Amino acid sequence: MFSFYKDKKILITGHTGFKGTWLALWLHTLGADVTGYALEPDTEPCLFTAIGLDSKINSVFGNILDNVKLEKVFNDFQPEIVFHLAAQPLVRRSYDEPVLTYQTNVVGTLNVLEAARKCESVKAFVNVTTDKCYENKESDYAYKETDVLGGYDMYSSSKACSEILSASYRNSFLNGQQGGYNLATARAGNVIGGGDWAPDRLVPDCIKSLVRDENIELRNPVSIRPWQHVLEPLSGYLMLGEKLFGSCEYACGINFGPHPENVYKVSYVAQKIIDLWGSGALKTVKNNDSMHEAKILTLDINKAKSLLGWEPVYTIDEAIEKTVEWYKNFYQNSNMYDLSIAQIKEYERKLNGKTASKPC
Ligand SMILES: NC(=O)c1ccc[n+]([C@@H]2O[C@H](COP(=O)([O-])OP(=O)(O)OC[C@H]3O[C@@H](n4cnc5c(N)ncnc54)[C@H](O)[C@@H]3O)[C@@H](O)[C@H]2O)c1
Repeated sequence: MFSFYKDKKILITGHTGFKGTWLALWLHTLGADVTGYALEPDTEPCLFTAIGLDSKINSVFGNILDNVKLEKVFNDFQPEIVFHLAAQPLVRRSYDEPVLTYQTNVVGTLNVLEAARKCESVKAFVNVTTDKCYENKESDYAYKETDVLGGYDMYSSSKACSEILSASYRNSFLNGQQGGYNLATARAGNVIGGGDWAPDRLVPDCIKSLVRDENIELRNPVSIRPWQHVLEPLSGYLMLGEKLFGSCEYACGINFGPHPENVYKVSYVAQKIIDLWGSGALKTVKNNDSMHEAKILTLDINKAKSLLGWEPVYTIDEAIEKTVEWYKNFYQNSNMYDLSIAQIKEYERKLNGKTASKPC
Protein backbone atom coordinates (compact mmCIF):
# COMPACT_ATOMS: atom_id res chain seq x y z
CA MET A 1 0.00 0.00 0.00
CA PHE A 2 1.22 3.51 -0.90
CA SER A 3 4.25 2.16 -2.84
CA PHE A 4 3.06 4.62 -5.51
CA TYR A 5 4.75 7.40 -3.51
CA LYS A 6 8.28 6.00 -3.84
CA ASP A 7 10.42 8.67 -5.54
CA LYS A 8 7.40 10.93 -6.13
CA LYS A 9 8.09 14.64 -5.63
CA ILE A 10 5.70 15.88 -2.98
CA LEU A 11 5.22 19.43 -1.69
CA ILE A 12 3.51 19.79 1.69
CA THR A 13 2.48 23.21 2.96
CA GLY A 14 2.18 23.33 6.75
CA HIS A 15 4.85 20.64 7.32
CA THR A 16 5.87 22.20 10.65
CA GLY A 17 2.37 21.70 12.09
CA PHE A 18 0.79 18.68 13.75
CA LYS A 19 -0.79 16.98 10.74
CA GLY A 20 1.81 18.23 8.26
CA THR A 21 4.72 16.78 10.25
CA TRP A 22 3.06 13.36 10.48
CA LEU A 23 2.26 13.44 6.75
CA ALA A 24 5.81 14.48 5.83
CA LEU A 25 7.27 11.74 8.02
CA TRP A 26 4.94 9.14 6.52
CA LEU A 27 5.82 10.16 2.95
CA HIS A 28 9.51 10.16 3.86
CA THR A 29 9.20 6.55 5.10
CA LEU A 30 7.49 5.65 1.80
CA GLY A 31 10.55 6.86 -0.13
CA ALA A 32 8.99 10.07 -1.46
CA ASP A 33 11.10 13.13 -2.17
CA VAL A 34 9.45 15.63 0.20
CA THR A 35 9.72 19.40 0.38
CA GLY A 36 7.84 21.31 3.07
CA TYR A 37 6.84 24.99 3.05
CA ALA A 38 5.53 26.59 6.26
CA LEU A 39 6.18 29.09 8.99
CA GLU A 40 8.64 28.06 11.68
CA PRO A 41 7.07 25.93 14.44
CA ASP A 42 5.24 28.12 16.94
CA THR A 43 4.77 25.81 19.92
CA GLU A 44 7.32 24.60 22.40
CA PRO A 45 7.62 21.60 22.48
CA CYS A 46 6.63 20.72 18.89
CA LEU A 47 6.40 17.55 16.83
CA PHE A 48 8.59 18.89 14.00
CA THR A 49 11.54 19.28 16.39
CA ALA A 50 10.73 16.24 18.53
CA ILE A 51 11.23 13.88 15.57
CA GLY A 52 14.01 15.92 13.89
CA LEU A 53 12.03 16.29 10.64
CA ASP A 54 14.26 19.08 9.29
CA SER A 55 17.10 16.58 8.78
CA LYS A 56 14.84 14.11 6.91
CA ILE A 57 13.17 16.30 4.29
CA ASN A 58 13.83 19.54 2.44
CA SER A 59 12.27 22.11 4.76
CA VAL A 60 11.68 25.71 3.68
CA PHE A 61 10.38 28.29 6.16
CA GLY A 62 8.16 30.81 4.41
CA ASN A 63 4.74 32.42 4.36
CA ILE A 64 2.06 31.34 1.85
CA LEU A 65 1.22 35.05 1.58
CA ASP A 66 4.69 35.60 0.11
CA ASN A 67 3.98 34.75 -3.56
CA VAL A 68 7.53 35.28 -4.74
CA LYS A 69 9.10 32.87 -2.27
CA LEU A 70 6.27 30.36 -2.70
CA GLU A 71 6.58 30.32 -6.50
CA LYS A 72 10.35 29.96 -6.26
CA VAL A 73 9.92 26.81 -4.17
CA PHE A 74 7.55 25.38 -6.81
CA ASN A 75 9.98 26.31 -9.60
CA ASP A 76 13.04 24.94 -7.85
CA PHE A 77 11.42 21.70 -6.66
CA GLN A 78 8.96 20.90 -9.49
CA PRO A 79 6.51 18.90 -7.31
CA GLU A 80 4.14 16.32 -8.79
CA ILE A 81 1.63 16.29 -5.93
CA VAL A 82 0.75 19.08 -3.47
CA PHE A 83 -0.81 18.54 -0.04
CA HIS A 84 -1.94 21.95 1.22
CA LEU A 85 -2.25 21.95 5.02
CA ALA A 86 -0.89 25.40 5.92
CA ALA A 87 -3.64 27.28 7.72
CA GLN A 88 -4.68 29.24 10.76
CA PRO A 89 -6.60 26.23 12.18
CA LEU A 90 -7.82 27.44 15.58
CA VAL A 91 -11.41 28.58 16.18
CA ARG A 92 -10.53 30.69 19.23
CA ARG A 93 -7.69 32.48 17.43
CA SER A 94 -10.07 33.24 14.57
CA TYR A 95 -12.09 35.39 17.02
CA ASP A 96 -8.95 37.33 17.97
CA GLU A 97 -7.45 37.51 14.49
CA PRO A 98 -10.20 37.29 11.85
CA VAL A 99 -8.20 39.09 9.17
CA LEU A 100 -5.15 36.88 9.60
CA THR A 101 -7.44 33.82 9.54
CA TYR A 102 -9.05 34.83 6.23
CA GLN A 103 -5.74 36.00 4.73
CA THR A 104 -4.09 32.67 5.54
CA ASN A 105 -6.96 30.29 4.83
CA VAL A 106 -8.45 31.98 1.77
CA VAL A 107 -5.87 34.28 0.12
CA GLY A 108 -3.02 31.97 1.17
CA THR A 109 -4.83 28.99 -0.34
CA LEU A 110 -5.39 30.93 -3.57
CA ASN A 111 -1.66 31.73 -3.68
CA VAL A 112 -0.79 28.04 -3.37
CA LEU A 113 -3.35 27.08 -6.07
CA GLU A 114 -1.88 29.73 -8.36
CA ALA A 115 1.75 28.75 -7.71
CA ALA A 116 0.77 25.17 -8.55
CA ARG A 117 -0.98 26.26 -11.78
CA LYS A 118 2.17 28.03 -12.95
CA CYS A 119 4.18 24.86 -12.35
CA GLU A 120 3.61 22.27 -15.07
CA SER A 121 4.96 19.36 -13.02
CA VAL A 122 1.95 19.48 -10.63
CA LYS A 123 -0.58 16.75 -11.46
CA ALA A 124 -2.59 16.51 -8.22
CA PHE A 125 -3.50 18.89 -5.40
CA VAL A 126 -5.21 17.97 -2.12
CA ASN A 127 -6.57 21.01 -0.27
CA VAL A 128 -7.14 20.11 3.39
CA THR A 129 -10.18 21.91 4.82
CA THR A 130 -12.35 20.63 7.69
CA ASP A 131 -15.64 19.09 8.80
CA LYS A 132 -16.50 22.55 10.17
CA CYS A 133 -17.05 23.83 6.60
CA TYR A 134 -20.72 22.70 6.72
CA GLU A 135 -23.59 24.83 7.96
CA ASN A 136 -24.04 23.18 11.36
CA LYS A 137 -27.67 22.42 12.20
CA GLU A 138 -26.75 21.18 15.71
CA SER A 139 -28.50 17.84 15.17
CA ASP A 140 -27.19 14.28 15.01
CA TYR A 141 -27.39 14.40 11.23
CA ALA A 142 -24.12 13.26 9.57
CA TYR A 143 -23.05 15.81 6.94
CA LYS A 144 -22.66 14.66 3.35
CA GLU A 145 -20.43 16.31 0.75
CA THR A 146 -23.51 17.69 -1.01
CA ASP A 147 -24.72 19.57 2.09
CA VAL A 148 -24.76 23.33 2.37
CA LEU A 149 -21.49 24.97 3.34
CA GLY A 150 -21.43 27.52 6.15
CA GLY A 151 -19.53 28.20 9.34
CA TYR A 152 -20.60 30.09 12.44
CA ASP A 153 -17.13 31.35 13.39
CA MET A 154 -14.43 32.91 11.24
CA TYR A 155 -12.26 29.77 11.11
CA SER A 156 -15.13 27.56 9.94
CA SER A 157 -16.38 30.07 7.39
CA SER A 158 -12.84 30.68 6.08
CA LYS A 159 -12.62 26.96 5.40
CA ALA A 160 -16.04 26.98 3.71
CA CYS A 161 -14.61 29.81 1.57
CA SER A 162 -11.60 27.62 0.81
CA GLU A 163 -14.05 24.95 -0.38
CA ILE A 164 -15.93 27.42 -2.60
CA LEU A 165 -12.63 28.81 -3.86
CA SER A 166 -11.44 25.31 -4.79
CA ALA A 167 -14.64 24.50 -6.68
CA SER A 168 -14.54 27.81 -8.52
CA TYR A 169 -10.84 27.44 -9.26
CA ARG A 170 -11.48 23.98 -10.69
CA ASN A 171 -14.26 25.30 -12.93
CA SER A 172 -12.31 28.35 -14.07
CA PHE A 173 -8.83 27.03 -14.62
CA LEU A 174 -8.53 23.27 -14.27
CA ASN A 175 -11.41 21.18 -15.58
CA GLY A 176 -10.67 20.15 -19.11
CA GLN A 177 -7.80 22.63 -19.43
CA GLN A 178 -4.62 21.32 -20.93
CA GLY A 179 -1.85 20.92 -18.41
CA GLY A 180 -4.04 21.65 -15.37
CA TYR A 181 -3.85 19.52 -12.25
CA ASN A 182 -6.60 17.56 -10.50
CA LEU A 183 -7.81 19.38 -7.38
CA ALA A 184 -9.70 17.79 -4.47
CA THR A 185 -10.66 19.00 -1.00
CA ALA A 186 -10.44 16.83 2.12
CA ARG A 187 -12.84 17.47 4.99
CA ALA A 188 -11.75 15.75 8.19
CA GLY A 189 -12.92 15.95 11.78
CA ASN A 190 -10.98 16.53 14.99
CA VAL A 191 -7.79 14.52 15.02
CA ILE A 192 -5.86 13.26 17.99
CA GLY A 193 -2.39 11.78 18.15
CA GLY A 194 1.04 12.36 19.60
CA GLY A 195 2.87 15.63 19.19
CA ASP A 196 0.09 18.23 19.17
CA TRP A 197 0.73 21.13 21.56
CA ALA A 198 -1.60 23.68 19.96
CA PRO A 199 -3.63 25.85 22.36
CA ASP A 200 -7.35 25.18 22.93
CA ARG A 201 -7.40 21.61 21.75
CA LEU A 202 -8.60 18.82 24.00
CA VAL A 203 -5.64 16.43 23.93
CA PRO A 204 -2.87 19.04 24.25
CA ASP A 205 -4.85 20.71 27.08
CA CYS A 206 -5.21 17.35 28.86
CA ILE A 207 -1.52 16.48 28.47
CA LYS A 208 -0.34 19.93 29.61
CA SER A 209 -2.52 19.61 32.76
CA LEU A 210 -1.34 16.06 33.49
CA VAL A 211 2.32 17.02 33.12
CA ARG A 212 1.78 19.90 35.57
CA ASP A 213 -0.16 17.61 37.93
CA GLU A 214 -3.25 19.82 37.63
CA ASN A 215 -6.93 18.97 37.13
CA ILE A 216 -8.10 18.82 33.52
CA GLU A 217 -10.64 21.63 33.15
CA LEU A 218 -13.45 20.96 30.67
CA ARG A 219 -15.74 23.74 29.50
CA ASN A 220 -17.92 21.61 27.23
CA PRO A 221 -17.71 18.00 28.51
CA VAL A 222 -20.81 16.80 26.63
CA SER A 223 -19.87 18.18 23.21
CA ILE A 224 -19.64 15.45 20.60
CA ARG A 225 -16.94 15.37 17.94
CA PRO A 226 -15.87 12.93 15.20
CA TRP A 227 -12.55 12.09 16.91
CA GLN A 228 -10.03 10.06 14.96
CA HIS A 229 -6.34 9.27 15.10
CA VAL A 230 -4.27 11.62 12.96
CA LEU A 231 -3.05 8.75 10.74
CA GLU A 232 -6.64 7.98 9.69
CA PRO A 233 -7.36 11.11 7.61
CA LEU A 234 -3.73 11.16 6.48
CA SER A 235 -4.18 7.68 4.98
CA GLY A 236 -7.23 9.11 3.21
CA TYR A 237 -5.22 12.07 1.89
CA LEU A 238 -2.57 9.64 0.60
CA MET A 239 -5.19 7.50 -1.16
CA LEU A 240 -6.79 10.61 -2.60
CA GLY A 241 -3.47 12.05 -3.81
CA GLU A 242 -2.63 8.80 -5.59
CA LYS A 243 -6.03 8.53 -7.27
CA LEU A 244 -6.05 12.20 -8.25
CA PHE A 245 -2.65 11.83 -9.86
CA GLY A 246 -4.21 9.43 -12.36
CA SER A 247 -7.74 10.74 -12.84
CA CYS A 248 -9.92 13.84 -12.58
CA GLU A 249 -12.76 11.55 -11.43
CA TYR A 250 -11.56 12.19 -7.86
CA ALA A 251 -11.43 15.99 -8.18
CA CYS A 252 -14.13 16.77 -5.62
CA GLY A 253 -14.73 17.24 -1.89
CA ILE A 254 -14.49 14.16 0.36
CA ASN A 255 -15.25 13.64 4.07
CA PHE A 256 -12.85 11.68 6.28
CA GLY A 257 -14.29 10.83 9.69
CA PRO A 258 -14.71 7.95 12.14
CA HIS A 259 -17.35 5.25 11.97
CA PRO A 260 -20.60 6.52 13.55
CA GLU A 261 -20.12 4.28 16.62
CA ASN A 262 -16.79 6.06 17.31
CA VAL A 263 -18.27 9.50 17.80
CA TYR A 264 -17.78 10.34 21.49
CA LYS A 265 -18.17 13.09 24.06
CA VAL A 266 -15.26 15.29 25.12
CA SER A 267 -15.50 13.86 28.67
CA TYR A 268 -15.07 10.28 27.40
CA VAL A 269 -11.82 11.14 25.61
CA ALA A 270 -10.45 13.11 28.57
CA GLN A 271 -11.30 10.37 31.11
CA LYS A 272 -9.69 7.71 28.91
CA ILE A 273 -6.53 9.83 28.70
CA ILE A 274 -6.45 10.03 32.51
CA ASP A 275 -6.92 6.25 32.83
CA LEU A 276 -4.05 5.53 30.45
CA TRP A 277 -1.78 8.20 31.93
CA GLY A 278 -2.32 6.65 35.35
CA SER A 279 -3.21 9.82 37.26
CA GLY A 280 -5.23 13.02 37.01
CA ALA A 281 -8.80 14.22 37.47
CA LEU A 282 -11.48 16.03 35.49
CA LYS A 283 -13.07 19.28 36.58
CA THR A 284 -16.02 20.78 34.73
CA VAL A 285 -15.75 24.56 34.74
CA LYS A 286 -18.43 27.09 33.91
CA ASN A 287 -18.17 28.26 30.35
CA ASN A 288 -18.05 32.05 30.69
CA ASP A 289 -16.84 32.29 27.17
CA SER A 290 -18.94 34.12 24.62
CA MET A 291 -17.26 32.05 21.90
CA HIS A 292 -19.72 29.84 20.06
CA GLU A 293 -18.88 26.14 20.04
CA ALA A 294 -20.87 23.51 18.16
CA LYS A 295 -22.39 20.91 20.52
CA ILE A 296 -22.47 18.16 17.95
CA LEU A 297 -20.80 17.51 14.62
CA THR A 298 -20.69 14.24 12.70
CA LEU A 299 -19.72 13.28 9.17
CA ASP A 300 -21.04 10.83 6.60
CA ILE A 301 -18.03 8.92 5.21
CA ASN A 302 -19.75 6.78 2.60
CA LYS A 303 -18.23 8.70 -0.31
CA ALA A 304 -14.66 8.03 0.90
CA LYS A 305 -15.59 4.37 1.32
CA SER A 306 -17.11 3.91 -2.10
CA LEU A 307 -14.82 6.19 -4.14
CA LEU A 308 -11.46 5.49 -2.49
CA GLY A 309 -12.01 2.26 -0.57
CA TRP A 310 -10.98 4.24 2.54
CA GLU A 311 -12.31 3.65 5.99
CA PRO A 312 -10.97 4.19 9.49
CA VAL A 313 -9.24 1.26 11.18
CA TYR A 314 -8.77 2.37 14.80
CA THR A 315 -11.48 2.36 17.44
CA ILE A 316 -11.68 5.45 19.61
CA ASP A 317 -9.92 3.56 22.42
CA GLU A 318 -7.06 2.50 20.13
CA ALA A 319 -6.70 6.08 18.88
CA ILE A 320 -6.46 7.38 22.46
CA GLU A 321 -4.03 4.57 23.43
CA LYS A 322 -1.65 5.47 20.57
CA THR A 323 -1.90 9.13 21.53
CA VAL A 324 -1.10 8.61 25.21
CA GLU A 325 1.68 6.14 24.33
CA TRP A 326 3.32 8.85 22.23
CA TYR A 327 3.18 11.56 24.93
CA LYS A 328 4.34 9.18 27.69
CA ASN A 329 7.38 8.28 25.60
CA PHE A 330 8.07 11.92 24.84
CA TYR A 331 8.13 12.85 28.53
CA GLN A 332 10.35 9.81 29.22
CA ASN A 333 12.88 11.19 26.68
CA SER A 334 12.47 8.26 24.25
CA ASN A 335 13.61 8.49 20.63
CA MET A 336 10.48 10.06 19.13
CA TYR A 337 11.54 9.58 15.52
CA ASP A 338 11.73 5.80 16.08
CA LEU A 339 8.49 5.71 18.04
CA SER A 340 6.61 7.75 15.43
CA ILE A 341 7.86 5.49 12.63
CA ALA A 342 6.80 2.46 14.69
CA GLN A 343 3.31 3.95 15.08
CA ILE A 344 3.09 4.57 11.32
CA LYS A 345 4.20 0.99 10.56
CA GLU A 346 1.70 -0.41 13.06
CA TYR A 347 -1.07 1.64 11.49
CA GLU A 348 -0.04 0.48 7.99
CA ARG A 349 -0.20 -3.16 9.11
CA LYS A 350 -3.70 -2.64 10.46
CA LEU A 351 -4.76 -0.81 7.31
CA ASN A 352 -3.32 -3.53 5.07
CA GLY A 353 -5.05 -6.22 7.15
CA LYS A 354 -8.37 -4.44 6.84
CA THR A 355 -8.01 -3.87 3.11
CA ALA A 356 -6.80 -7.44 2.52
CA SER A 357 -9.67 -8.99 4.47
CA LYS A 358 -12.33 -7.15 2.48
CA PRO A 359 -14.46 -9.41 0.26
CA CYS A 360 -13.97 -8.82 -3.48
N1 LIG B 1 -5.97 19.30 13.92
C1 LIG B 1 -7.27 19.07 13.66
O1 LIG B 1 -8.01 18.50 14.48
C2 LIG B 1 -7.85 19.46 12.31
C3 LIG B 1 -9.18 19.09 12.03
C4 LIG B 1 -9.71 19.43 10.78
C5 LIG B 1 -8.94 20.10 9.86
N2 LIG B 1 -7.65 20.47 10.15
C6 LIG B 1 -6.88 21.17 9.12
O2 LIG B 1 -5.66 20.48 8.90
C7 LIG B 1 -4.62 21.41 8.56
C8 LIG B 1 -3.45 21.23 9.48
O3 LIG B 1 -3.88 21.45 10.82
P1 LIG B 1 -2.92 21.22 12.07
O4 LIG B 1 -3.75 20.74 13.16
O5 LIG B 1 -1.74 20.43 11.67
O6 LIG B 1 -2.50 22.74 12.38
P2 LIG B 1 -1.13 23.31 12.96
O7 LIG B 1 -1.45 24.63 13.57
O8 LIG B 1 -0.45 22.30 13.81
O9 LIG B 1 -0.25 23.55 11.67
C9 LIG B 1 -0.52 24.61 10.77
C10 LIG B 1 0.62 24.71 9.79
O10 LIG B 1 0.33 25.78 8.90
C11 LIG B 1 1.47 26.64 8.84
N3 LIG B 1 1.06 28.00 8.55
C12 LIG B 1 0.16 28.76 9.21
N4 LIG B 1 0.07 29.99 8.61
C13 LIG B 1 0.95 29.98 7.58
C14 LIG B 1 1.34 30.92 6.61
N5 LIG B 1 0.78 32.13 6.56
N6 LIG B 1 2.28 30.57 5.71
C15 LIG B 1 2.83 29.34 5.73
N7 LIG B 1 2.51 28.40 6.61
C16 LIG B 1 1.58 28.71 7.54
C17 LIG B 1 2.12 26.51 10.20
O11 LIG B 1 3.47 26.96 10.14
C18 LIG B 1 1.98 25.02 10.44
O12 LIG B 1 2.99 24.35 9.75
C19 LIG B 1 -5.26 22.80 8.64
O13 LIG B 1 -5.67 23.18 7.34
C20 LIG B 1 -6.48 22.59 9.51
O14 LIG B 1 -7.48 23.53 9.26
C21 LIG B 1 -7.09 20.15 11.37
